[in-house]
Amino acid sequence: MANNEDIFKKIIAHCKEYGFIFQSSEIYDGLSAVYDYGQNGSELKNNIKKYWWDSMTRLNDNIVGIDAAIFMHPRTWEASGHVGAFNDPLIDNKDSKKRYRADVLIEEHLEKIEAKINKEVEKAAGRFGEKFDEKMFRQTNERVSGYQQKIDTTKARFVKALENNDLADVKQLIIDEEIVCPISGTKNWTDVRQFNLMFSTQLGSVSDEASTIYLRPETAQGIFVNFLNVQKTGRMKIPFGICQIGKAFRNEIVARQFIFRMREFEQMEMQFFVKPGTEMEWYNHWKEVRMRWHKSLGMGDEKYRFHDHDKLAHYANAAADIEFNLPMGFREIEGIHSRTDFDLGNHEKFSGKKIQYFDTELNKNYVPYVVETSIGVDRMFLSVISNAYTEEIVEGTGEERVVLKIPPVLAPVKLAVLPLTKKDGLPEKAREIMDKLKFDFNCQYEEKDSIGKRYRRQDAIGTPFCVTIDHQTLEDNTVTIRYRDTMQQERIPVDKLEFIMEEKVSMKKLLRTL
Ligand code: GAP
Repeated sequence: MANNEDIFKKIIAHCKEYGFIFQSSEIYDGLSAVYDYGQNGSELKNNIKKYWWDSMTRLNDNIVGIDAAIFMHPRTWEASGHVGAFNDPLIDNKDSKKRYRADVLIEEHLEKIEAKINKEVEKAAGRFGEKFDEKMFRQTNERVSGYQQKIDTTKARFVKALENNDLADVKQLIIDEEIVCPISGTKNWTDVRQFNLMFSTQLGSVSDEASTIYLRPETAQGIFVNFLNVQKTGRMKIPFGICQIGKAFRNEIVARQFIFRMREFEQMEMQFFVKPGTEMEWYNHWKEVRMRWHKSLGMGDEKYRFHDHDKLAHYANAAADIEFNLPMGFREIEGIHSRTDFDLGNHEKFSGKKIQYFDTELNKNYVPYVVETSIGVDRMFLSVISNAYTEEIVEGTGEERVVLKIPPVLAPVKLAVLPLTKKDGLPEKAREIMDKLKFDFNCQYEEKDSIGKRYRRQDAIGTPFCVTIDHQTLEDNTVTIRYRDTMQQERIPVDKLEFIMEEKVSMKKLLRTL
């Protein structure tokens, strides 16, 4: 869809122009799939992290947070299964020399068939008008049911092939489905091979097998290996959770789509330790809690959906994604996984240390089961920024404005303080107002250019409030406040400013709604 692609390109350009995201090491032509957050990007990112962290640790007295190291003992990754099974199936096109993830090629192929179904449904809805019964149409229309059957059988074969690690059949499926390389347009494919996604490096000065360590591909393992430390020192009783925010690294084969798939990214993960047999109850509980957290930001309930996994990761007995409607369609932002006792059980085996919990109610020891919530900070960022990006024509003037309608609580700058002129004591008055508010809100002082231009610059970074300080302010201590989304302006006493802002940008208030 060219239109959405255009919007996505504009969002990427906007992120750069307004100090949200830069390509890493840009002066050396950049590093593929690695990005830096600029002055506004890091404020927005910190707000996302704070909202998540507080919702976990403050709203739940049985969840505590930690900050584990990125480097871990190499045996960790054998125990977790990442050395053996953290692979993506890759395939190359011999003509374009481009490398793809075989599963992504197949999924995109199925999405195209799904799009054909949607087109048929749309056409029929237009033809039949109000009388249109979509469910009935999907069931009875021959063309649609044919497409649906094709999707179902292809998916079933694909899942089976991946589960059996039958890479020859994955390749055969690509050939049978006549999937072509998007660059060369040919079907000249290599065999499918497994590719491990972990980055490795050497510890110390000796470069041998024994000193090979990995950059963690998920933060979760730092929590698992600290399970007993936290449980004992915090006197935690099951059920309880440990959460953390930190960097993770994956050598992604298909690293594109801006910050959606990066090689260095950040995760916010929470492992919730439960009594064996209760995990499905907690799994459903956390699915619901996490969806509520997302929707609380007011970006539109219809933008989210759950997607249950067809193929489970090596550690899970149930898994679902929370997907958000990004410019390229619905994509995973967060995963909720029931990880059984796989991780703790394996760390027990590999370390030779007992990792169990003594349940005083049952009067016995067991290895707890784990339900995990895992959200990518960068993907969350992408959902916020792409949802916020709005181009609109200003009523009355016909002028176009680009405004980021970021949820006010996450906005990088909350208030812009704008003296009308650079003289007559207006800058000093502006500074005085700012000095009062800056301890609670991130404020920005701007005196350059016309007020109109300054408004546009603040719109472009998503500042929810601008106040203008003029000569009247010096007389009656009132300012003009201007609201980002409606562009409405009103005259208010300076003393009311804090209250108005608190109403709209308070994280405390939003946390209370959860
Ligand atoms: N501990 C479980 C785990 O890591 P995952 O589904 O592989 O599960 C969790 O990753 C989340 O991390 C994803 O939902 C996504 O938001 C984020 N994520 C994973 N790989 C990423 C990448 N290459 N770039 C950006 N975010 C990524």
